[in-house]
Amino acid sequence: LREHYCIIASNKHLESTTMERTYIMIKPDGVQRGLIAEILGRFERKGLKLVGLKSVVPSQETAEAHYEVHNERPFYPGLIKFVTSGPVVCMAWSGKDAITVARTLIGSTNGREASPGTIRGDFGMDMGFNMIHGSDAAETAAFELGLWFPEGLMEWDQTITAWVYE
Ligand code: RTP
Ligand code: MG
Repeated sequence: LREHYCIIASNKHLESTTMERTYIMIKPDGVQRGLIAEILGRFERKGLKLVGLKSVVPSQETAEAHYEVHNERPFYPGLIKFVTSGPVVCMAWSGKDAITVARTLIGSTNGREASPGTIRGDFGMDMGFNMIHGSDAAETAAFELGLWFPEGLMEWDQTITAWVYE
């Protein structure tokens, strides 16, 4: 038991220094298709740490702020209508290079082109209905986490961290 705690203690430094957080959202099509557990499980099994989780029907204001970078694009009105159409699952995941790791799990935007093994590659056939969102950079992650989780994120020690990172 003591050795077990020593391993955990020796990995403590990883927490504050090298961990990154990313905002992940299962969009209304993922919820409607019953893919919540399947998608969430992939992040969990990968070794990322869950630091925020809730389900909401996004407000118009939140959706518009989230997709503001696309507000000149032709698909923007449809995208806002879609993302506010029903429940989404909002998640915050923490880990080393979590933003890139999550984007790799998610796959490229169009499901028909996304690699098998990725979420979009395994379950998606289109661009708009691509089931999931993942922050694309550190700045957007910080913005999106603040937008969707104004109440803040969970701080907790996950004992398996000692078995996930060297
Ligand atoms: P996301 O932001 O949702 O994680 O997806 P992404 O980075 O792969 O794609 P992005 O270029 O940021 O586009 C945001 C979302 O807008 C929809 N979209 N539709 N019809 C179109 O040409 C088009 N292009 C983008 C997709 O749902 C995409 O996820
Ligand atoms: Mg994007």
